[in-house]
Amino acid sequence: MENINWTDLTFGYLKTDYNVRSYYKAGKWSDLEITDSDQVSLHMAATCFHYGQEAFEGLKAFKGKDGKIRIFRMRENALRMQASSRGILMAELPVELFEKAVLEVVKRNLRFVPPYESGSSLYIRPFLVGTSPQVGVNPAKEYLFVVFVTPVGPYFKTGFKPSPYVILRKYDRAAPQGTGNIKVGGNYAASLVAGEIAHEKGYSAVLYLDSKEKKYIDECGPANFFGIKKNTYITPESHSILPSITNKSLMTLAKEIGLKVECRPIRVEELADFEEAGACGTAAVISPISRIDDLDENKSYVFSKDGEPGPVSMKLYNKLRAIQYGDEEDKYGWITVVE
Ligand code: PLP
Ligand code: COI
Repeated sequence: MENINWTDLTFGYLKTDYNVRSYYKAGKWSDLEITDSDQVSLHMAATCFHYGQEAFEGLKAFKGKDGKIRIFRMRENALRMQASSRGILMAELPVELFEKAVLEVVKRNLRFVPPYESGSSLYIRPFLVGTSPQVGVNPAKEYLFVVFVTPVGPYFKTGFKPSPYVILRKYDRAAPQGTGNIKVGGNYAASLVAGEIAHEKGYSAVLYLDSKEKKYIDECGPANFFGIKKNTYITPESHSILPSITNKSLMTLAKEIGLKVECRPIRVEELADFEEAGACGTAAVISPISRIDDLDENKSYVFSKDGEPGPVSMKLYNKLRAIQYGDEEDKYGWITVVE
């Protein structure tokens, strides 16, 4: 067994024992294949290489105090991958096969699920690619679905400590009627240049505005956005953002702790009224935002002056984590216990 320092894990790739795969051919998905190789062999004219037929998902498994392993909302990820498939004309993977593959890959890599005390988790990365050759721009006839896992720590190196974000108006991550609402690789390729600029300038990530008017907040590179104002959890409504499962969960939990919830367009200037702001997602969990610099407008919106998360973000974070690690009852049926 490798000597894994569970508490110092970053959000990186560590080879685990097995991954699972299914192949779509002649209209049928194959039984799951289990392999210890982390390589895939594909035709050089596969559509994933040329025409971006690729979608992925991200979810996590958590080890509880009781030693049980819990997977968070995997059905939602299965459904979202189907939506991504419809968006770029790939074969849709049945929900049951997605769930079976996720459970299988976790069970085959139990020794990589970080211990409860570490606060780390096992990141599960399913993806789907078009594999058969096309030189003309057409969808593939064959597909490969793979799920691998890797133990991870915080996505942003600051973890749950607030960090700064930046608005860069010269870059869009997705077109207004484009693919921003599905989880396809092209969205992330389109975000790399702006993301790199943000990192070089010392920011955790870009906060994207709507591509059409640059008036409204969309989301962060790898996470949704929320703000807290007057006991209300406010998050953008937009066609070009990913419907985040974490955000959806936080909206439920916000109501539970007595907040109002608003999902609506948020004008950039409204940032000035927010008492707290954060990025949320599977990888990001809640990553509180200390400050947003709008460089083009020469404005700064400050949310944390003392370097600590705000009280509402803290409450939501603790509640979400408690459900994920099994410290709090799963009253919404979000958890699948790995038996
Ligand atoms: N927005 C983008 C662009 C993402 O990549 C992610 C990560 O999956 C999210 C939001 C958060 O979504 P979820 O909470 O389902 O992980
Ligand atoms: C996730 O939160 O699961 C993501 O996919 C975000 C990022 C790593 C792309």
